[in-house]
Amino acid sequence: MISSPQAPEAGLRGAVVGNTSLSSINGDEGKLIYRGLDIHDLARNSTFEEICYLLWFGALPSRTNLDAFRAKLAQRRALPKQLLTLLRDLPPTAVPMDVLRTAVSALGLFDENVNDTSRAASLDKAIALTAVFPTILAAYRHLSRGDELIEPRSDLDTAANFLYMFFGKAPDKDAARVLDVALVLHADHGMNASTFSSIVTAATLSDMYSAITSAVGTLKGPLHGGANEGVIKNLLEIDTPERVDAWVADKLGKHEKIMGFGHAVYKAYDPRATELKAIAKETGHRAGSTRWVDLTERMERAVWNEKQLYPNVDLYSASVYYTLGFPTEYFTPIFAVSRVSGWCAHVLEQYADNKLIRPRANYVGPRDVEYVPIEKRSADITL
Ligand code: COA
Repeated sequence: MISSPQAPEAGLRGAVVGNTSLSSINGDEGKLIYRGLDIHDLARNSTFEEICYLLWFGALPSRTNLDAFRAKLAQRRALPKQLLTLLRDLPPTAVPMDVLRTAVSALGLFDENVNDTSRAASLDKAIALTAVFPTILAAYRHLSRGDELIEPRSDLDTAANFLYMFFGKAPDKDAARVLDVALVLHADHGMNASTFSSIVTAATLSDMYSAITSAVGTLKGPLHGGANEGVIKNLLEIDTPERVDAWVADKLGKHEKIMGFGHAVYKAYDPRATELKAIAKETGHRAGSTRWVDLTERMERAVWNEKQLYPNVDLYSASVYYTLGFPTEYFTPIFAVSRVSGWCAHVLEQYADNKLIRPRANYVGPRDVEYVPIEKRSADITL
């Protein structure tokens, strides 16, 4: 007889899938580190390029290393022309996260070394993938509206170049830094759902593009990266501060989840939310209106009073992206523009010390069922 494993905690909470040196969360204290460095220090002092370097190479870069690395990323921003043709042929109403997932999958077809999982080849793919995420999104934005494409600029860093390609004008320095900090804050986060799906794929020794395609599909869900789009939809629905309390009470009364609150690991204030809240306020002040961040703060208080739930990373990023002018459907893709760096870092770790990830499930179905020939089966299940 085959023995059943112990029933796992729902959602694998607390299960350890392997070792990582990339990031760690202390959920009780609300702390997050990337390779030992506190997220607050990184958010206040580092750029997204430094974070990519930190995650992929193990330490923050020297000035010389950083300059060489920034140039390397900047050189890889252009898309193969066949990919542009594909993007042009997609329905103009497609969801940008679906476009991103399709584009990453298609990119693998243009890499002659697609199946090379050596560190050198994988690093090259990490650079190439991280470099093109903003280009894919900006290109699709323009193609889907019948607008002219805007070529990437190699003299700008990731955040500034993304703003430039997306909005078609030289980005304001403050806006570029705001987006840059958001990218720093979203780069890696322990064994979150999308990272887990990326390493499950990589652990079969499938290629990096397949692993990142899995991750993009996983990030899209409203319980994960999709929550930031849910937050802004809620804020737009609530619209005025006087309606917040009743709206929150109604949702919680109906046992509905409110996007941007709660976390599988944090049982304290998400440190990324602390940074994003401050940025959201600054961004609002600079834009001449703190309406959305004020509404968010009001919602934070209402949710706390009703159910003692802390905000997560998606709560305040929503008003930041909205104030920067991004359309709602690009909020989750912005998360992906950053998190691709973390996914690639975890895939690099996985390839370096691989073991197939193959858990068991706790079987709860019937056993010893008698086989009934097709002529004798009753057709009582409605299809
Ligand atoms: N809104 C309302 N209630 C929430 C909630 C939310 N955002 N998050 C958790 N809860 C409640 C649950 O309903 C449950 O209440 P109960 O014990 O009265 O039934 C309790 O808190 C535990 O929730 P659970 O879903 O089991 O916690 P989890 O740790 O498995 O969930 C999330 C983590 C992220 C899936 C969950 O908090 C959530 O769905 N949040 C909204 C989506 C979101 O913002 N995702 C982004 C995460 S970074």
